[in-house]
Parts: sequence; structure tokens; C-alpha cells
Amino acid sequence: MLDFKTPWRNRIAGALNALAAENGVNLSVSAGELIVETPPQKEYGDLGIPMFSFAKAFRKGPPQIAALLAERLSTERTDSAASSARGKVIAHGPYLNVFLDRGESAARIIAEALSGADFGRPGTLAGKRIMVEFSSPNTNKPLHLGHLRNDALGESISRILAVCGAEVRKVCIINDRGIHICKSMLAYQDHGAGKTPESEKKKSDHFVGEWYVQFNRDLKAETEELVKTEGLTKDEAEGRSALMARAQELLRKWEAGDPATVDLWKKMNGWAVEGMKETYRRTGISFDQFDFESQVYLLGKQEVLKGLEQGIFYREEDGAVAVDLSAENLDKKVLLRGDGTSIYITQDFGLAIFRHQDWPFDRLVYVVGSEQQYHFKVLFSILGKLGYPWAKDLYHLSYGMVNLPEGKMKSREGTVVDADDLVNSLRDMALREIRAKEREEAVGDPALVAEKVALGALHYYLLQVNPQKDMLFDPKESLSFNGNTGPYLQYMGARISALLKKAGEQGFSGAGSVDAALLSTDAEWELLKTAAAYGEAVAESAARMDPSALAAYLYELSRCFSRFYHDCPILGAENRALAGARLALCRAVERILREALNLVCIPFLETM
Ligand code: ARG
Repeated sequence: MLDFKTPWRNRIAGALNALAAENGVNLSVSAGELIVETPPQKEYGDLGIPMFSFAKAFRKGPPQIAALLAERLSTERTDSAASSARGKVIAHGPYLNVFLDRGESAARIIAEALSGADFGRPGTLAGKRIMVEFSSPNTNKPLHLGHLRNDALGESISRILAVCGAEVRKVCIINDRGIHICKSMLAYQDHGAGKTPESEKKKSDHFVGEWYVQFNRDLKAETEELVKTEGLTKDEAEGRSALMARAQELLRKWEAGDPATVDLWKKMNGWAVEGMKETYRRTGISFDQFDFESQVYLLGKQEVLKGLEQGIFYREEDGAVAVDLSAENLDKKVLLRGDGTSIYITQDFGLAIFRHQDWPFDRLVYVVGSEQQYHFKVLFSILGKLGYPWAKDLYHLSYGMVNLPEGKMKSREGTVVDADDLVNSLRDMALREIRAKEREEAVGDPALVAEKVALGALHYYLLQVNPQKDMLFDPKESLSFNGNTGPYLQYMGARISALLKKAGEQGFSGAGSVDAALLSTDAEWELLKTAAAYGEAVAESAARMDPSALAAYLYELSRCFSRFYHDCPILGAENRALAGARLALCRAVERILREALNLVCIPFLETM
């Protein structure tokens, strides 16, 4: 790991303790205690160490201590033992500021970034087993814009945790049973018998989703009629709806294993899941394991009944099993319906228990929307009460809503922003742009490049925002080439690739030694320092469970690279040695870009 701080901590702590001893001050500072900051302006230096906390012991003002210490360090002989703490030291107000030795640091950064095996791989999670659950769709509807945010977050955070050394297992629970599935089944029975995705030439999950929309259309017609003719409220009308009663009946039949119902259910779920997997393949999302609610909900039911026996839960008048969590401000919550059928949370007990048995984890991360915060609080609390010690290792990675600028996505009315449609329109927009710029020939396969640009635009836009925040997805803005976007970063990668190719043609092979100490201008130094900070950005994203830290890093890297590219001629440098050193820096940036873009699910493009 590139670490410029530790040698300086050691050296400064030593000098501070010696200074204290000489002045009869009782002070012993360890290297780890020193606060090392980055000065707010680069003119102030590369590291800044505040002196405030030593004022009392020295009975001197922090600026005075900084001045004494700076003088001492400047006159100190740096022998080989302290050789990695070489550079200039000055006092700046209450701070001791360090200017690292640029030449020496550049050599280390280039060597590490080009061939360090653990460069960008902080070992902060070595030995940890982390399960990440994400996407987790219901089989009555195709994936929508919210899933795209979920998928990007889950996939990205999994990749980030893995480069930090964790063993990661990506899992997806398919909610394939319940009343919502029965609604689609009922509409299909009523209107669609004999039709198939093939016969209707539709993507199979979209085909299934349309029956869910159909059910809601039918239900609306039925309840509106009841409201009109019988003067009922909307809720009363739903309570009296024959369609709702039939859907409930279908659910009971399914739970009882009625063969015809189970057959229909299998057929429709098969279609739904097959279509979703096609979308995952297309968007670069993958899982190590799929689980199905239908396979774990009985285990969940058992667990609820066990808790009832143990007196952790109680029975309500209508026979439902519930828990009272009002002591934790979590209210009362039904866990199993009065008629014995399971509800959404029932499965989650079975699922968590099954997962821990199957693959004992140190942490299980649920990537699920913020509207389910209450659900997960209740779930984690109850699992603790049921006596599972690993309940404390469960974590809800909650994310906010995502909308298009036009307005809220609504699923019941069938006006939801479909994931496939959105990716298609991004791809079409990217393709039009390639054509408008007459880049078709240059890029080789325009359709493929457009698809990758679309994914870059989508994933960067979604991940650059803190997960907690609600956001708007603006397709046009996401595709813009000038700004903080995925395509802009991809374009930077393509520029470097083209440059390196050209360099190869001019006999710069990349082999042999480079004199990195030649990289001494401010633009080069800023880029080098940013390159060196890559591992820290990865570790920060992992610690915060938030890819936006890495997205911000990528933007900073591109900003520094643009300045370098603008200020420093590369192939046209004054001499070949300097050109070679600058090319080495470009190679280092290219490596970081390839790896970091992959961590935020953005395809790297050599031409675009
Ligand atoms: N399928 C659920 C939904 O669309 C999300 C499942 C989240 N995961 C879980 N273990 N409950 O709302």
C-alpha cells in the first residue's frame, strides 16, 4: 500500500518528543496519535499536522510549537532509516505542513500503480464473509427504474467489498408467491388462456406483467361500479369485490398445493424469471444464488409458530399471529394471517435462517428501498428475540426513490418506468449521437458501443448520488459528454487508450525503466497524488457501503487528468525521457480507470 503518512508520523512524533524532553516538558506522543490532514489549499503543502493539542503541555501557542518543530525538522539529518519521510517542512500558523519530496514519491507511486499486486486492494475486509442481497423482484411485474438503482448499488458494493478482501456472495430472493402473483394468474385465466410470450411476441416478463395490470383494470371497473350502484366507499368496495375474493381463494388453493393452480403458477413464474434474467445479463448484473420465497416461506411460518409457543408472539382475535414491539417504538405487527396464509414478512424469517445455515456469514446486507425501513427494523429485532446471535450482523442498505423528471413512477396504473424500455431509449439516444458525430466507422460496432455508453451513463448517474437520497434520473443529462457523467469518464479512458496505442507505434513499449522523478510540475504532482489515493477511495466506499465515494474519486481523477493532458505535452514532450515518464503516468491512470470503472459497473471502452 502506498502510505506517505506513516513515515512522517514517526518522524514528527520523534521530533516532538525530543523537543519536549529538551524543554523539560512531560509529553510522550505516539505516531498513531498525530492527526494528519490534507491542507485545504495545495500551496500549503501535501500534509498538515495541527499543533493545538500540544499547547497545554508546552505552555506555548500552537504557532510557536509549529515553528520550533519546523526548525528542528529542517535541520535534522535524514539518514536512510527515515528516507521515506523526505521533503520540506514549514510552519503555517498552528499547523506543521509537509511538502513531500516529489521525485521520490512519484517513483513510488508509478511503481506501485503499474505493478503493485495490492494496489487499489485494501485488505480491510480480509477473511470476512459478506452476503449481499439485492434486486429481489416480485414475479408479477418486470424490473423497473427502482430495480436499476438497486441492481447498480448491489452489484457495485459487492465488487467493492470483494476488492477489499471479503469473500462475497451475491444473492437474490425472488418473491414468487402471494396475493400479487395470484392476481396476475387470475387475469391470465380470465383473459389469456392459451396465449404465450411467443404467440404474443413479447419479452416473457413483460407478458406476465401485463396480466397484473389487467387485473387492476378489472378490479377498478368492478369497484367503481359498486361505488356507484351501492354508494360504498372505495375500501368497502374492495372488501366486497368478487375479484379480490377469487384472488384470495387462488392463494389458499396454491398454499394447499392444488395441482392446476401450481401448474399455472409455475408456468407464469418461469416466464417472469426468464425475462428478468435476460435483463440482468444485459446490464452486467449477476448473482451467485437465486432463492425463491416459495421454498422458504414454510420455514418462516414454522418459526412464527415457534415464537408463538415461546410466548414471544401472541394470537389476535381473528387468529392472526402478531408481535407487540411498542416497547421499542415499533408498534404491533402481524406476522401470519388469521387464515393461516403467510404475508411478506413471514418468509423473511425462514430466508435469513436458511441463509445463515447455508453459508455462515459475518454480515448480511439487504439492498432494499427506504420504504421498507420499518420492515427490516422489525425483522432484525424479532430475529434477535428468537435467539439468533447473528441478528446483529444484519444490515439494511436502504436507498431512496428514483423518478424521471416527468413525475413519480406508479406501478398500479401500469405507468411504471420499465427497466428494459429505459435502457433501450438510452441506447438509442447514444446511437443517434454516434451517428450525428459520424463516428460509426471509427467505433467499429456502433450498436455495441451505444449499449455500453448507455450502461455507463445509467450506472454512473445512479451511483454518484448518496444511496439514502431520493433522486431524479435525467436520461439526457446522464448521456452528456461534458460534465460529471459516465460517458465523460468512458471518453477519458478512450482518449488514454488511443494515446497509448499511438505511443506504441512510436516505439514507446512501456517496458524498461522510467525516470518518474521527471514528473515535477503541479499538474503532474496533483495527478500522481490522486492516483495514489485510489485505494483509500475504495476503502472508504466499502466502509460507508456507498459507491458514491468512488464515483466522486473518479470525477476527481478525470479532472486532474484533463488538466495534466492540457498542460503537459506527452508524445510531444521536450525529450524522450520525459515523454516516457508521462506515458508511464498515463498507463497508471489507465489501470486505475479500468479497475475503478468496473467497480461502479461502467464498461471500459477503448474507442467511442
Ligand atoms: N420483492 C420485494 C419487493 O419488491 C423486496 C424483497 C426484499 N428482500 C427481502 N428479503 N425482504 O418489495
